[in-house]
Amino acid sequence: MPTGTIIFADNLEVLRSLEAESIDLIYIDPPFNTGSTQRRLQLRTESDPAGDRIGFGDRRYRTIVLGTMAYNDAFDDYLGFLTPRLEHARRVLAPHGSLYLHCDYREAHYIKILLDRIFGHDAFINEIIWAYDFGGRSRRRWPAKHDTIFFYAKDPQQYFFDSDAIERIPYMAPDLVGPEKAARGKLPTDVWWHTIVPTNSHEKTGYPTQKPLGILRRIIQASSRPGDCVLDFFAGSGTTGIAAWELGRRFILVDNNPLALIAMAKRFAQVPDVEWVNFDPRPYQQEHAHPTLFSPQTSLDRE
Ligand SMILES: C[S@@+](CC[C@H](N)C(=O)[O-])C[C@H]1O[C@@H](n2cnc3c(N)ncnc32)[C@H](O)[C@@H]1O
Repeated sequence: MPTGTIIFADNLEVLRSLEAESIDLIYIDPPFNTGSTQRRLQLRTESDPAGDRIGFGDRRYRTIVLGTMAYNDAFDDYLGFLTPRLEHARRVLAPHGSLYLHCDYREAHYIKILLDRIFGHDAFINEIIWAYDFGGRSRRRWPAKHDTIFFYAKDPQQYFFDSDAIERIPYMAPDLVGPEKAARGKLPTDVWWHTIVPTNSHEKTGYPTQKPLGILRRIIQASSRPGDCVLDFFAGSGTTGIAAWELGRRFILVDNNPLALIAMAKRFAQVPDVEWVNFDPRPYQQEHAHPTLFSPQTSLDRE
């Protein structure tokens, strides 16, 4: 079995083909925009002898168009899009497996309800807040500077979680805890302060919505063992795969956007033993392959 598999396909198709209980950990960061925004007319009918509709007792009605509900439709569609994918996610997780779902304040509450329905309310383990401090600050409300990551277990009695493997962080006031504790650091809580991927960093791929490796490392360290299989079926630039590989885990990444596959081709050029499905990475892995694939205007979803 290869160290990693990277698949160019719709993730539902891939999820359907994965064996039940074959995955140890899933991290996903789905886009908000499913690409299928629909507009639904909002209508009201009123009694009118000259109306175009005939109802009970041959009474006539006319139809009044009140407006369109594009936003709500898009949202309904979004949950409809996620539902079968999350159902399969639960099916493919091993009994000790976990799911981490990354979203933002706009979707978080609806997604929580959906996850409770699919995984069970008692399988909810944590709501992790990733707090960062970057970009403009609204003067009309509190500037939104956090994402939400939901952590669910396949089975709350059996899930794997290794707090000893988590990298510790410095105490805010080390003088208050003594030198020994201060040197050891403390375990992170469910609020994670972490920078976004810095613009000029080595880590930056240029792929919109790329998440920091530090966030993925922490999740993978805590919720999987070396040799385990980590799945990300909204892979984007492949952050989950890189973190998994660095930590000695296997990975399966899926994305249906050719730009994501191109970003991953470059990012995984030095990673040995990767199987590519439906995509040939080689033209993008040569030394002089086109370096500027993404413009700042490229936008996939909510960012
Ligand atoms: C927010 S991005 C993920 C970014 C990623 N976490 C990273 O660090 O680069 C979401 C990804 O989901 C992909 N996607 C959306 N719908 C998909 C589908 N039906 N099947 C596979 N991938 C899909 C998009 O192409 C996009 O790359």
